[in-house]
Amino acid sequence: FAQDKPFKIGLILPMTGQQATTGRQIEAAAKLYMAQNGDTVAGRKVQLLVRDDTSLPDMTRRLAQELVVNDKVNVLAGMGITPSALATAPLATQSKTPLVVMSAATSSITEASPYVVRTSFTLPQVSVPLADWASGNGIKKVVTLVSDYGPGIDAEKYFSQRLSANGGQVTEALRVPLRSPDFAPFLQKVRDAKPDALFVFVPSGASAAVMKQFLERGLGKAGIRLIATGDVTEDDQLNAMGDGALGVVTSHHYSAAHPSPLNKQFVQAFEQANKGLRPNFMAVGGYDGMRVIYEALKTTRGVGDGDALLAAMKGQVFESPRGPVSIDAQTRDIVQNVYLRKVERVDGQLYNVEFDVIEGVKDPGKSR
Ligand code: DHB
Repeated sequence: FAQDKPFKIGLILPMTGQQATTGRQIEAAAKLYMAQNGDTVAGRKVQLLVRDDTSLPDMTRRLAQELVVNDKVNVLAGMGITPSALATAPLATQSKTPLVVMSAATSSITEASPYVVRTSFTLPQVSVPLADWASGNGIKKVVTLVSDYGPGIDAEKYFSQRLSANGGQVTEALRVPLRSPDFAPFLQKVRDAKPDALFVFVPSGASAAVMKQFLERGLGKAGIRLIATGDVTEDDQLNAMGDGALGVVTSHHYSAAHPSPLNKQFVQAFEQANKGLRPNFMAVGGYDGMRVIYEALKTTRGVGDGDALLAAMKGQVFESPRGPVSIDAQTRDIVQNVYLRKVERVDGQLYNVEFDVIEGVKDPGKSR
């Protein structure tokens, strides 16, 4: 019987290289979830098989293939960056294996396979509310600076369209390479253009570098405001960015400073289990992804069939450390609150302090 065998989750993450913080955050969160909720669900022992894809999509696909064919995993999960998720989606379809995307955030990923379920966020979801905030706060001319791949292009497009609809204007749209970017020449261009604000999206692992160079180039002192998606002020690296980051306004779905009782418990437990490491939005994507898998396994009474699990993942509604969320049964994408936050010093540490919320935001990329 299937019930006598372990239930296997193949968790593929970048554990080395630029995206290594994504891997360490999600792995730690998945392990915390299992420590808190037990490793036996519906009578089956749950096994987590963690693999490092070094964020190379060919490697992600090869590891996924091995996990499905040799290890016979019931669920694939992780996916640090968009190209990894897109490379793995066809295999999820062919093998009818649910693919729980815990990190990658390009809108179209959920459309690449009917077996994708997402617990992270999308860039359109957070970029539109930031454009509205900017327009409401005297920001008219903006230069955008994004990583030149899926999520960056989504962020640029949805921010820019919304700002224009509000009567503002993106005067220049700059794109930097995903890997080892040198921001200096781009930031010099921004300094010369003197917009009201610079809007930035770079993936979490590249954010400390962009912040450092923004500050070194003196853009803030030149009167150019930095506004960004929360990837740029993510909680794993925020403290290390220093006081220059104070006052930066971002929009995102998770802050370690989110003031709910559930989040306070989550942050405390995560820090305690990980030598004081603060959880960032990747950790919450991983933690909630495990919740979605555990609940699907319970609902299906441990049978472990891919189609049954997928059906039981669709439509889940629960409270996350980030706030109330649901998995849209039609799109399989996450519906969640988007918060506006400002970097502030709290008890001697830098945090993204939430000051406004837009509730129950669906991915705007799906309403085309
Ligand atoms: C993606 C990766 C990130 O690290 C991030 O912060 C946002 C999006 C991605 O590749 O989809």
